[in-house]
Amino acid sequence: MSGLAFAQAPPPSVPMRFLATALAWGVVAGGGLAWHGEVALLSRWTPATLVLVHMFALGLLGNAMLGSLVQFLPVAAGSPLPCPRLVPGLHATFNLGLALLLATLATSSHVLAVPAAVLLGGSLALFASLAVVAVVRGSGLRVVREGIGLAVLALVATALLGLVLLAARTGWRAPAARGVVDMHAAFGVIGWTMGLLAAVGTVTLPMLQGTRAPPDVASRAWHIGLLLTLGVVAAVHLGALPAEAIRIAAWPFAAFAAAVFVLQARAPHRRNAMLRAFWRAGGTALLLAGVLSAGPGASVVVTGTLVLGVGLPLLVVGMAMEITGFLTWIALRQRAPRGVRVPGVGRLFDEAAKRRAFFAHVIACALLASATLVPPLARIAGGALILAYAVSLHALWRCWRLSARWQAHDPG
Ligand code: HEM
Repeated sequence: MSGLAFAQAPPPSVPMRFLATALAWGVVAGGGLAWHGEVALLSRWTPATLVLVHMFALGLLGNAMLGSLVQFLPVAAGSPLPCPRLVPGLHATFNLGLALLLATLATSSHVLAVPAAVLLGGSLALFASLAVVAVVRGSGLRVVREGIGLAVLALVATALLGLVLLAARTGWRAPAARGVVDMHAAFGVIGWTMGLLAAVGTVTLPMLQGTRAPPDVASRAWHIGLLLTLGVVAAVHLGALPAEAIRIAAWPFAAFAAAVFVLQARAPHRRNAMLRAFWRAGGTALLLAGVLSAGPGASVVVTGTLVLGVGLPLLVVGMAMEITGFLTWIALRQRAPRGVRVPGVGRLFDEAAKRRAFFAHVIACALLASATLVPPLARIAGGALILAYAVSLHALWRCWRLSARWQAHDPG
């Protein structure tokens, strides 16, 4: 750990608020599903579905991804996010904008669309600009910086397309073609989320799961593959390629999962059993989604749920718990008076709490995936999601609270 640029890392409370907010959005998403029931899973176009999609995509995954940029840019790119004082404000603006976007999607209201667009679009644009500056002037591994840079550019494209779709949905411009929605979804899920997870994963898999780092040539092939895939999705929309070509968008999910399985199986120093279990479970859902969407007639609701509601959240929740142990440890180190012993990272986050959270999430995810085939299960799945995210949020809070409690006396 000591070789990593933790000295440049932001105060741990900053990434911590992103992680806690991410899990809180998970509780809200479960509540949304429990409230709307099967309507949210019957078609990809109902307002309830679009709201649920963005609770997962922006609320849960977005907060976790932005928080991971704040925490990992010093480590992965060798350069912290510039203007760190802006970050708490950006966090608040982003989440307020998201709440307004959800209200707009639910009601198609004109009135809320403008503040939603300004707050959400503005906070993402500023965040992306700061991240690009950090990546360009950083001294970390070039291939990792390229991966983060590409993901951030995909986020900008996603947000721009999202704003166009919002304008169309609220009647400011003509209704959008289905291809624009597909491009927005592909840039967001494949370019931004999978792109960033893979780039950050090349650092965190060796660090936290004891795997070997993937070779640079594989990372470069992955970047080129993602760019080509997004190009194919755009070409399908422009009519330059037949509609079936969109199935190519399935490969990143299967390839990512396969890479995780291989790296884990060949890990020279296996660490953090629960984190590995979260990643195996998440990888299995992504692999299944990849295989299903490569075939003909796959339901977008089924594959979308496997990716956005099951696979990616499992990876992110596992990471959130592991990173919370580190953040608590850093906070303790910063606060402890000279000579006071700080317990090791491994002792800070209760393993039994991680195990409980893992089983709660696996059960909730199994119910959610089943509800796409048996819609009457939707409300039960929503209830199980509320419980799973509440359990993990509580575990996060119990660990983080130690940083304040142990400030006064030496636990060792
Ligand atoms: C500024 C940010 C964003 C805005 C304003 C926005 C807005 C929208 C709107 C208005 C739609 C509905 C299109 C329609 O049917 O009329 C949509 C669909 C969608 N968005 Fe976003 N979005 C944003 C960010 C994201 C991100 C970051 C992701 C993924 C990581 C994402 C994933 C999706 C997906 C998957 C759909 C399609 C939903 C479906 O097929 O059911 N969005 N977005």
